[in-house]
Amino acid sequence: MSLQTSAAIDRDNLVELYGPEHRLCTTPSTQLNLVLSPDREIDLYELEQLCDAVGWSRRPVRRVRKALQHSLLVVGLWRHDPRLPRLVGFARCTGDGVIEATVWDVAVHPLYQGAGLGRQLMAFVLDQLRAMQVERVSLFADPDVVRFYADQGWELEPQNRRCAFWYSP
Ligand SMILES: CC(C)(COP(=O)(O)OP(=O)(O)OC[C@H]1O[C@@H](n2cnc3c(N)ncnc32)[C@H](O)[C@@H]1OP(=O)(O)O)[C@@H](O)C(=O)NCCC(=O)NCCS
Repeated sequence: MSLQTSAAIDRDNLVELYGPEHRLCTTPSTQLNLVLSPDREIDLYELEQLCDAVGWSRRPVRRVRKALQHSLLVVGLWRHDPRLPRLVGFARCTGDGVIEATVWDVAVHPLYQGAGLGRQLMAFVLDQLRAMQVERVSLFADPDVVRFYADQGWELEPQNRRCAFWYSP
């Protein structure tokens, strides 16, 4: 199946809904328009539903709101609907915006997985960080998702150079 973007879509409306930096994804169907945006506000309850759908444990909405406010970058993947876009993917980054950034909470709704959207989401995140001229990007992956990142050029650690440490204060 070839990937394509739909021609039958009002581009002005996209800017209005998703902001000037939005990107239309390639999808297996011209009926399906999916849009990446760093600008469209995330509905926290919709985000909670997405996290539920991928099996993540719940976090208090109040704390998630604060985490998003303090994030360097928040990206939503939206199933386009001129009246009510639906959040079907998400990623965010923390960091200083200059030297270091860390990617967190990468998710694509199970109904939309396996269509190249996770890859496009990550490429978009990295393009946004590149535009900020961030020097280095890190992330922490579950063992069963390592290949997803490794196939996109992420370097797996530790390789006798660095290790991840966790501490819960
Ligand atoms: C991981 C995730 C974001 C991938 O999204 P996706 O839209 O299905 O990914 P894509 O379709 O772009 O897949 C790109 C490639 O990665 C592979 N891939 C996808 N998910 C993978 C996984 N969990 N493990 C290993 N490889 C994976 C695909 O097979 C595809 O390979 P191909 O290019 O050889 O065909 C999605 O499965 C997800 O949200 N999972 C649950 C949440 C999660 O685990 N997030 C990561 C936290 S570290």
